[in-house]
Amino acid sequence: MTKHIYPVYDQLLSKENKEKLLNQQAKCIWLTGLSGSGKTAIGKHLEQLLQENGKLSTVLDGDNIRDGLNKNLGFSVEDRAENIRRIAEINKLLLHSGVITINCFVSPTQEIRDTAKAIIGEKDFLEIHINTPLEVCEQRDVKGLYAKARTGEIKNFTGISSPFEEPKNPALKLSTINCTPLQSAQKLFDFLAPHLKYTS
Ligand code: ADX
Repeated sequence: MTKHIYPVYDQLLSKENKEKLLNQQAKCIWLTGLSGSGKTAIGKHLEQLLQENGKLSTVLDGDNIRDGLNKNLGFSVEDRAENIRRIAEINKLLLHSGVITINCFVSPTQEIRDTAKAIIGEKDFLEIHINTPLEVCEQRDVKGLYAKARTGEIKNFTGISSPFEEPKNPALKLSTINCTPLQSAQKLFDFLAPHLKYTS
């Protein structure tokens, strides 16, 4: 596949050059959890908190990416793997530009998340489990998808008819019960702050 291809990575300014310019360390913050667990709600607040603290970040969100770049992918095991592979490649480009990435993807299996980590690089990958129980996500049912999954209108729905494997060894596990999304984002921000501080 990579025949007659000559990458020029080593001729470009480095990640460190960009990090110095932005006065931050570019890390991939990978939020994994069930649909409706609060990934995007927390991600949006985290982006705002980072901005207020002079850190440049961007949110990559499942529904947004599937509305554009990954329009052609569904929810089979293969398509989910390809979805996450492409997202991991986007992460690589953004991290190389010094930007902190906030990823909000169900990313339901350990294998899929490990693939992302391998593409992105272990030292830049922070896996955060948004640990909201299925019953709570289903009760919230913000998008009405759980009801459709229960009737069988939506197939392969994570948590109902497709598995979700909890991360074995996340950098942080966030419970969202009795916490607003802003409070969860604040906890996450406090945990992340030392990881994002620029060090030469
Ligand atoms: S992933 O499994 O490939 O990581 P991704 O995060 O991109 O999923 O997209 C999940 C979003 O797609 C959910 O928040 C939900 O809104 C929507 N969705 C539609 N069908 C499904 C499904 N079968 N399983 C999970 N999410 C689905």
